[in-house]
Amino acid sequence: MRRFIPLYFAIVAMVAFNPFCAAAQKPAAENAPAQTAQTPPMGWNSWNYFADRVTDADIRHAADELVATGMRDAGYVYVNIDDTWEGERNADGVLQTNKKFPDMKALADYVHSKGLKLGIYSSPGSKTCAGFEGSLGHEAQDAQMYASWGVDYLKYDLCSYIPEMQKQAPKDRAEQMRTMISAYGKMDKALKAAGRPIVYSLCQYGWDSVWEWAPQVGGNLWRTTGDIEPRWQSIYSILSEQAGLAQYAGPGHWNDPDMLEVGNGRLSLAENRTHFSMWAMLAAPLLAGNDLPNMKPEIHDILTNREVIAIDQDRLGHQATRVYSEGEVDVWARPLANGAMAIAVVNAGSDRYSSHPFHLNLTKLGLHGTQTGKDLWTGKTITLTNDMPLEIASHDILLVRIAKTSKTR
Ligand code: GLA
Repeated sequence: MRRFIPLYFAIVAMVAFNPFCAAAQKPAAENAPAQTAQTPPMGWNSWNYFADRVTDADIRHAADELVATGMRDAGYVYVNIDDTWEGERNADGVLQTNKKFPDMKALADYVHSKGLKLGIYSSPGSKTCAGFEGSLGHEAQDAQMYASWGVDYLKYDLCSYIPEMQKQAPKDRAEQMRTMISAYGKMDKALKAAGRPIVYSLCQYGWDSVWEWAPQVGGNLWRTTGDIEPRWQSIYSILSEQAGLAQYAGPGHWNDPDMLEVGNGRLSLAENRTHFSMWAMLAAPLLAGNDLPNMKPEIHDILTNREVIAIDQDRLGHQATRVYSEGEVDVWARPLANGAMAIAVVNAGSDRYSSHPFHLNLTKLGLHGTQTGKDLWTGKTITLTNDMPLEIASHDILLVRIAKTSKTR
């Protein structure tokens, strides 16, 4: 049920294959009001490193570090508390925080005092994924409380709403999906009624082609897959699942391939670089998920590469398309503002591509003749010629920005 691809979707995906086809890049919800998230949200989220251990102090430290490391100034402004902050509801149904978060308003004030924004987490079900209190039946009350605290971002995670959908529409999968969509719509209305601009992040793992309906229920972003893990296989398989989704992204509404694992687990430097580069190519939200107070310099350098961030934040909001693959090498392209273009070549293989050289085909990218660009990881000028052989280390990437492209006519 993860991904149902009707015929017309396959046709649309083929059109989207050409990164310069304007029609293919038309946002799905161009008439919807979209004041928030005009570029993909950037910040930090507690889950990927702290999971259920996160405390008020960890959130404050993360805020401090975003400022001290220059990450805030590079664009990382949301500090998002994920699951496990919730306590019990009182007799009036008002949700309390648990003892790890003694005073949420004070925490929000602290985060705001640093020039940052606060994000929070809940579920349309009665329980969150970690078994804490969800918002079912208390949507308006919870939305008002978030607004009164000064919350700027909500991640709304399906979880225990799944059994609720099954209860409401036993054995009727289509009706269960409609129930799910209406639950997301209910919280959207509650957030709008609460009167504070709050970025609305849908988390239901890409079910029921969420990209087709999320903007209609006010979604600024929506998870397209299951949970990411700090392993190359997880990152590469999520990356591959994004092919064909470019047409659904645009200012105010973004595909979300999940939060960053840069700096987590045992990812090699090449893998961290490729993960970050490709999330930027995908116009994905850039929510760091690492241990900021103990961040290594090389991880800081990846997360704060301004020219890679600029690709993610390009004002046109066109997500990259996978133009072609050859062997274990994938070539992605993304049109940028002012006629610029980003090209990413990823070696997903376990060996350096030398015994079986890969040749870059510029014609397939719609380019004509030699192109001069900048390699965004070496900082050097690079000249790309048609069919040039490229040697890229295992799980590494060549990421090039071409300021002025010459295209095939
Ligand atoms: C789900 C989500 C994760 C995280 C956890 C919290 O698994 O997909 O991103 O929010 O729940 O319990």
